[in-house]
Amino acid sequence: SMVRHYNFSVVMKNVTKLCGTKSIVTINGKFPGPTLYAREDDNMVVRVVNHVQYNVTLHWHGVRQLRTCWADGPAYITQCPIQPGQNYVYNFTITGQRGTLLWHAHITWLRATLHGAIVILPKRGTPYPFPKPDKEKIIVLGEWWKADTEAVLNQAIQTGLPPNVSDAHTMNGHPGPVPNCSSQGYTLHVESGKTYLLRIINAAVNDELFFQMAEHNLTVVEVDASYTKPINTDSIFIGPGQTTNALLTAHKSSGKYLIAISPFMDAPVGLDNSTSTGTLVYSGTTLSSPTVSMAIPPLNATPVEFSFIDSLRSLNSKEYPANVPLTIDHSLFFTISVGVNPCSTCVNGTRLVAALNNVSFVMPNISILEAHYHNIGGVYTDDFPGYPPIPFNYTGTGPSNIQTMNGTRVYRLPFNSTVQIVLQGTSIIAPENHPTHLHGFNFFAVGKGLGNFDPVKDPFKFNLVDPVERNTIGVPTGGWTAIRFWADNPGVWFLHCHLEVHTTWGLKMAFIVENGKGPNESLLPPPGDFPKC
Ligand code: C2O
Repeated sequence: SMVRHYNFSVVMKNVTKLCGTKSIVTINGKFPGPTLYAREDDNMVVRVVNHVQYNVTLHWHGVRQLRTCWADGPAYITQCPIQPGQNYVYNFTITGQRGTLLWHAHITWLRATLHGAIVILPKRGTPYPFPKPDKEKIIVLGEWWKADTEAVLNQAIQTGLPPNVSDAHTMNGHPGPVPNCSSQGYTLHVESGKTYLLRIINAAVNDELFFQMAEHNLTVVEVDASYTKPINTDSIFIGPGQTTNALLTAHKSSGKYLIAISPFMDAPVGLDNSTSTGTLVYSGTTLSSPTVSMAIPPLNATPVEFSFIDSLRSLNSKEYPANVPLTIDHSLFFTISVGVNPCSTCVNGTRLVAALNNVSFVMPNISILEAHYHNIGGVYTDDFPGYPPIPFNYTGTGPSNIQTMNGTRVYRLPFNSTVQIVLQGTSIIAPENHPTHLHGFNFFAVGKGLGNFDPVKDPFKFNLVDPVERNTIGVPTGGWTAIRFWADNPGVWFLHCHLEVHTTWGLKMAFIVENGKGPNESLLPPPGDFPKC
């Protein structure tokens, strides 16, 4: 293993897209941002210097951060922001993981432009558990607004209304193609007969996406930096925060083939519904040859989404066993809902809120991690949700109890306890799939169903053998998802919907995992340059 040093300067940069130029927040002037390369077991030292007028934090999405919660990054959960003119070194080791992840800003909506890939290669001498590709390509999917994204966010907060949707989806920064804007869209160059490992990352702010290519199926081999059984598919579904590695065989002799990203939503309202396309181009193909196209899943293609998600399984080989917790110490049930609360200064006298178990999370003024570590009172309460869950017909359309209260409430877990969370989606106000992300852990997605979770019957249907292991999972509209994990990482760990608009509205909470008693079971002390509020 080695130490890898990266210098990340946060700087403004003028970027032109969709016939317009705007100044965006970037790392080192790049959009998407620079790729972090590592091998399993490497020590990453990322020095961040903030040269912009915004407070900034960075998060290494999916990196376990064993004992280094100080480097995790969500603002006011594990750290105070890096203020203008200040710097902070994120120092962490990649342990027991290999594959593709992403890094992104974790404050306000800065992740719209502050994001990039993390590529973790297996240990030297350890092969991939699939045929070695000839080449690897990173494809970062994103969303582009013509307006300034911080202004879009602030307007939504002030009015209490949904934010303006983005103007285009992007592949490696390319919307497209856009007539008269000299944008050709993204091009993927391939050579006939070769195989490619595509590292696909959804770094979009609010949209779940389908990714597909004309006349080229893909073989998924890994999601969220966990190997899967190989799955052959014509359409990949990927939510914000999720990553998918897939093998592409360039089986044609020549030609041009469409690549498309299109959004998914059960009830298609309030999202950017535009498809963006790029082109897969074989070497030797003449410029004028036509592009072969394909059918694109409609916005509400729930069957396409379900069949992809349900097909995923952990590799569960001798080298990469699925260590699923078989007994559960903490069995939790979280409802996910979107509602309205009174707001005297808002446009309609109400504002949109989102909640877990009817609690809309309020950000504290210092980080929960510091309050926990230094025993500072008055920052949070460890009584999440704070009352017995309010039962209602979760998957009905109302009238229902969607009354939401505010609180900075956490749930405390003893070291190495086993946890099951049933995430129950609801259909009230915003019937949609919620890509839910847990920091600090991978979890096993042991079950999923439509309707209300049945605690007596449904657990018998759980897959406890080879469930897919991930860090972000969709909770279906009017349905539920069950996850299990080992609380073997001391610290404060955020759980939230990775649709940033829902995080803004309060769809988030945190776990505190206590120190263990063993020699390597406690949180390390904070670094000397840890930012202050
Ligand atoms: Cu990818 Cu809490 O974030």
